[in-house]
Amino acid sequence: MERKRLIYLDHAATTFPKPRAVTEEVLRCLTQYGGNPGRGSHALSLAAAEKIFDCRCLAARFFGVSDPERVFFTVNTTQGLNTVLKGLLRAGDHVLISDLEHNAVYRPLYQMEKQGRITFDTFPSMTGDCRKNAMRICAGIARRLRPETTMVVCTHVSNLCSAMLPVREIGRFCHRHGLLFVVDGAQSAGHVPIFVDEMEIDALCVPGHKGLYGPQGCGMVILGKGILPEALMEGGNGVNSLEGEMPDFSPERYEAGTLPTVAIAGLCEGIRAVESIGTETIFEHEKALYRRTEELLSEKKGLTLYASEYEGAALLLNVDGLTSEQVGSLLNEDGICVRSGFHCSALGHRTLGTPSHGAVRVSFGMYNDMQDVEYLCQSLERIRKEYGGV
Ligand code: ALA
Repeated sequence: MERKRLIYLDHAATTFPKPRAVTEEVLRCLTQYGGNPGRGSHALSLAAAEKIFDCRCLAARFFGVSDPERVFFTVNTTQGLNTVLKGLLRAGDHVLISDLEHNAVYRPLYQMEKQGRITFDTFPSMTGDCRKNAMRICAGIARRLRPETTMVVCTHVSNLCSAMLPVREIGRFCHRHGLLFVVDGAQSAGHVPIFVDEMEIDALCVPGHKGLYGPQGCGMVILGKGILPEALMEGGNGVNSLEGEMPDFSPERYEAGTLPTVAIAGLCEGIRAVESIGTETIFEHEKALYRRTEELLSEKKGLTLYASEYEGAALLLNVDGLTSEQVGSLLNEDGICVRSGFHCSALGHRTLGTPSHGAVRVSFGMYNDMQDVEYLCQSLERIRKEYGGV
């Protein structure tokens, strides 16, 4: 097997490479208009503020909300989730989260529970086919409701496999029961259409650097109508500067300190690139890559695929007789980039029943092709034959 080029299959961690327009916009921002937005009336500050407003408007349209003010920028999805969880929950509240959550949801809630501020439980998401069992998932949530339950949090798409939760149905269920609904869109934004208002989501937290193909360094929260969490951080932002209180309106309430203007400028072009191809087209492409990989691997002895009935951008596997780290290193020797281990999701790994060393995650993006799949499968076959237990 000849090593021809680097094959990047770690898009669930961050997409790579970025569209050329993203790289060019980052350079333009750094060289032509990168003032500090909202901090002055000079040309460079105004130009940076305009770019940020452009991105807010693009994101509002992309995620189906009418007011760009409901989009605020964060450093990443984790910061967004921390803001909405800590800013919306009150002492004594009970929260329900899915059993596939990433540590970006689990750890803030774990900490809040440890401090005696809230309690939380998990509800099952793998109750048959995730795409068809919305009723069963909602029934699982209903069974766990307590009088003090105020919020449901779930990942839209797992960061381990391609399981997708029925967000629209859970949103409807939540609002019928007077519950807040928070969605972690880290693996779905840019892969699957998301409409915040239509899906009755109260806060959607997304990264800029994954499915939206922006640079690392910025994420976003898109708030439901009338949702105004407490701020996670206080500080300057050029608005109401003489007052001690943070502004009581979005987005300024949440944007303390200098924004990551360069990353946001790049993100603008990332969103445009995804929009011009179409989220659904990208998802169909990823599913085709997934299906071919699954077809080539599923019959092999000595390979375990997890939850492979869910088609999408991520496939989780193990090779018998090797740890996931060993497989990741051997793939790397063939020029293939994947992520091994636990992927910051203890809950998800427990739910999927992976062994104590975790698993290997292969994740596709819009620039991968069938050749990448063939090459990956050949490499896995070599690893399996040369080092595996079969
Ligand atoms: N949360 C990202 C992943 O799943 C970093 O790899």
